[in-house]
Amino acid sequence: MLKKIECFIQPSKLDSIKDALFDAGVEGLSVTDVRGVGRQRGYTSGEKPKKKVKFLPKTKLEIVVDEEIVEDVIAVIKKLARTGTIGAGKIFVVPVEDAIRISTEEVGKSAIF
Ligand SMILES: Nc1ncnc2c1ncn2[C@@H]1O[C@H](COP(=O)(O)OP(=O)(O)OP(=O)(O)O)[C@@H](O)[C@H]1O
Ligand SMILES: [Mg+2]
Repeated sequence: MLKKIECFIQPSKLDSIKDALFDAGVEGLSVTDVRGVGRQRGYTSGEKPKKKVKFLPKTKLEIVVDEEIVEDVIAVIKKLARTGTIGAGKIFVVPVEDAIRISTEEVGKSAIF
């Protein structure tokens, strides 16, 4: 079974996380600069919360892996994305129906590794 780990992290954490992910067995990932908001509605701990929701810059990682390494990948992200405070990010795990490597027509797990 393939799973997609979709996570939102602080942009400054990307550099160290990307190398650790490959060390954990990841063979590919996509990165997007996004804007996001969580339960503080965009206000950091030092700020006075206002009514209006505010977006903050975040980095989204999309990583499709075999379910065998999902827990390892989550452990890497949890360890390296931590900031010791709120707003460090969030991880979602989503089922993936199939994968196809276009160059070889490999499908499923073979398309990933
Ligand atoms: N329910 C959600 N759906 C989609 N994206 C989300 C959701 N919650 C958070 N995100 C994304 O994750 C980013 C980081 O969220 P954040 O770490 O602030 O979560 P939180 O739930 O507010 O937890 P904390 O209290 O630790 O800050 C958000 O800026 C947003 O991009
Ligand atoms: Mg938050």
